[in-house]
Amino acid sequence: MQKTLSIIKPDGVSKKLIGEVVRVFDSAGFRVAAMKMKSLSRTEAEGFYYVHKERPFFTELVEFMTSGPVVVMVLEGDDVIKRNREIMGATDPAEAAPGTIRARWADSKQNNIIHGSDSEESAKFEISYFFSEIEIF
Ligand code: CMP
Repeated sequence: MQKTLSIIKPDGVSKKLIGEVVRVFDSAGFRVAAMKMKSLSRTEAEGFYYVHKERPFFTELVEFMTSGPVVVMVLEGDDVIKRNREIMGATDPAEAAPGTIRARWADSKQNNIIHGSDSEESAKFEISYFFSEIEIF
């Protein structure tokens, strides 16, 4: 079984989409192995997105990710990294396939409701960034 990290971003929380998103994951057959709500500090957001630190949108991304609480989750399932990214849809909601989370609810490339790890390597880093072993069920 593979694991991935999912974050319902501040826009997803403020739009009251926590339940909708978890329902999508349950319906897909993913198992929620860990979940917590937290406010990211600037340092935490910068560290999480360090791979994007040279991108022009980095400062705004950090502002956005620290603008309100997020819900971080560990999801488990067969091929869950790839399947979760399919279910989320493309980063830009205008390009996201119909029925995906971002096509349904996202407003922009930045305010795109949800994050999901993009590889086994990033899933390992991202899960350990937010959860210790004993918090993962
Ligand atoms: P996420 O999957 O969390 O990974 C990096 C995030 O940066 C991405 O979702 C978006 O929220 C944001 N992002 C990516 N590309 C752009 C862009 N061109 N403009 C603004 N924000 C972006």
